[in-house]
Amino acid sequence: MNITVIGTGYVGLVSGVCYAELGHQVYCVDKDAEKIELLLSGGIPIYEPGLGEMSCTNMEAGRLRFTTDLSGAVADAELVIIAVGTPSLPSGEADLRFVDAAVREIGAAMNGYKVVCVKSTVPVGTNDRVRELLSELYEGPFDIASLPEFLREGTAIRDTLAPDRIIIGTDSQRASKLLSGLHEPLNTRILITDIRSAEMIKYASNAFLATKISFINEIANICEKVKADVTEVAKGMGLDTRIGPSFLGAGIGYGGSCFPKDTTALIQIAGNVHYDFKLLKSVVEVNKEQRYSVISKLHQALGSLEGRTIALWGLAFKPETDDVREAPALEIVDRLIQLGATPKVYDPVAMDNFRRLRNHPGIQWCSSALEAAKDSDALCLLTEWRQFKEINLAEVKAAMSGTVLIDGRNAFSEQQVSGLGFGYYPVGRPS
Ligand code: UGA
Repeated sequence: MNITVIGTGYVGLVSGVCYAELGHQVYCVDKDAEKIELLLSGGIPIYEPGLGEMSCTNMEAGRLRFTTDLSGAVADAELVIIAVGTPSLPSGEADLRFVDAAVREIGAAMNGYKVVCVKSTVPVGTNDRVRELLSELYEGPFDIASLPEFLREGTAIRDTLAPDRIIIGTDSQRASKLLSGLHEPLNTRILITDIRSAEMIKYASNAFLATKISFINEIANICEKVKADVTEVAKGMGLDTRIGPSFLGAGIGYGGSCFPKDTTALIQIAGNVHYDFKLLKSVVEVNKEQRYSVISKLHQALGSLEGRTIALWGLAFKPETDDVREAPALEIVDRLIQLGATPKVYDPVAMDNFRRLRNHPGIQWCSSALEAAKDSDALCLLTEWRQFKEINLAEVKAAMSGTVLIDGRNAFSEQQVSGLGFGYYPVGRPS
């Protein structure tokens, strides 16, 4: 199949590369000429394990092309996938500027029947708006479909090639047949729905996962007070197949470009139809506060933080990504600086991205985990990178001047830390 993907952000790039991997002829289009140059030279603008290699293999095989020429790429395509960004407006609503712009350009380039589908996360009703806009620009036949994306950063290829399910929202049999056929080789459940339900499934799924995280974080906070162990609680809960074990990892809250954006967008979508989504508002509130549990624990251990040196391990919003958008580390660093402490930070891949958002002279940038720990009064693990979990903690303790270890992601076991002389503060577990 000839497929054109518009937008080479996370969703667009991974989808384009994976469709090529499945044997299709794929054009990935972006307005950003520098990005396209980088992709054509075999580079990758994001950190995603395995993506660079897969992109090169498919380019060499002649199945994957990168271009800034949208109309040329659309002309050849049977399927056009819109995967441009939908950032948040100050109100929390999704900004559809890039979707509209893409649709206008697609409309101008249409030259025959095509299925145009939206993979970007868009408010309910957006596909109808796409249909209207396109029919103003092109009089011939076309179909619209919503094809929401469920990939996670860090495991994007696996999630795309071995997904739990594919959701196709369309009112056209022809589009449904084309999209079902495209995803058949993935051997997964395919659910065909109406367009608006497909749009809603995306928001509802992310909001539900965010709810699980905020729920377990509140349980963790209570566990700390009643001396129970949240990891045991989560394990016990997760054995109930109605609950399931995933997304019950207590920590310092969710970040990233999806959960924060999509939860506020869904609150806004509900608000637009005069529905007060109270539960989701609390989920967001709990998540905002949870990151500051690191600061409370530091106060508890050290008293005033003025003049203290605090090592921070991990700046990315989760491991296996260089993405720092909405990462808890951003506000933790801000608060430490406000309180007169010196953050010494280290992340295996996210240092440059973090520096772009927080280039404060009070931050000490380190080139290894051990260097960050050296002479610090306390060490806080904010992202559970494997290299931190596997580090020799005795060596770390010897390098520090203090003894406080705040484990914001329950990355260490009691066994690993016991006997080393740390004052150990995990999340929702007895310390
Ligand atoms: C999330 C969803 O998981 C994907 O299904 C979805 O496609 C994507 O958003 C999107 O909308 O594009 P992602 O943001 O890449 O994916 O990352 P997740 O692995 O879901 O983690 C999100 C945050 O939740 C991270 O900060 C992580 O540390 C946190 N988390 C996750 C927890 O605190 N506890 C958990 O048990 C799981």
